[in-house]
Amino acid sequence: MKLKESGMPEEEMWGRFFEPNKILQTLGLSNSVVGVADLGCGYGTFTIPAAKIIRGKVYAIDIEPEMIENVKRKAKENGLDNVEARLRDFMAEGSGLENEIVDYVFLFNILYTTKNPEKLLKEAYRILKINGKLGIIHWNYDSTTPRGPPMEMRPKPEQCIKWAEFAGFSSLKKYDLKPYHYGIIMEKTK
Ligand SMILES: C[S@@+](CC[C@H](N)C(=O)[O-])C[C@H]1O[C@@H](n2cnc3c(N)ncnc32)[C@H](O)[C@@H]1O
Repeated sequence: MKLKESGMPEEEMWGRFFEPNKILQTLGLSNSVVGVADLGCGYGTFTIPAAKIIRGKVYAIDIEPEMIENVKRKAKENGLDNVEARLRDFMAEGSGLENEIVDYVFLFNILYTTKNPEKLLKEAYRILKINGKLGIIHWNYDSTTPRGPPMEMRPKPEQCIKWAEFAGFSSLKKYDLKPYHYGIIMEKTK
């Protein structure tokens, strides 16, 4: 089931809200990372820069065929053979990835859209290696942002942390990803 309010604006507009390389650097993505899962990859705004940084593969998963085709095309244009774009509904079917296969899971601008965020976080936990990291990005809890879901759907960082702790994550860092987002890093320690 496609998550509510997860429809994307035009790619050009979406791209204006982020500095993906800066954000990935802030969230600690480096070439010591081998595998990444980008759940709800959208246009590949973070998939493609991540694939250029890490040593292994980025699994980019989305429910929308046009998003997956877009990511595949961009990977090809960028000469990247380490992007595996998969069309899949991860709420209904899970990510389809093996247990403990990646070092980093991105839940970027997606977690707030589901009524069952704990389920998605548990899936992230399952596919992460021990000491693997979870990165969450969300629109600020601020009604003046130029886009973003209605305020009643936007979780505050504390809420995301509670959900992630419920799924088993611990040890957090919070970041102000100016101008419109916040970021959280959590860890799977056991
Ligand atoms: C708001 S966009 C965020 C895209 C990307 N993470 C980013 O920050 O640029 C959310 C994406 O999640 C995808 N999505 C929503 N529900 C999904 C589901 N159940 N399974 C897989 N993808 C889903 C949508 O198609 C959309 O591309």
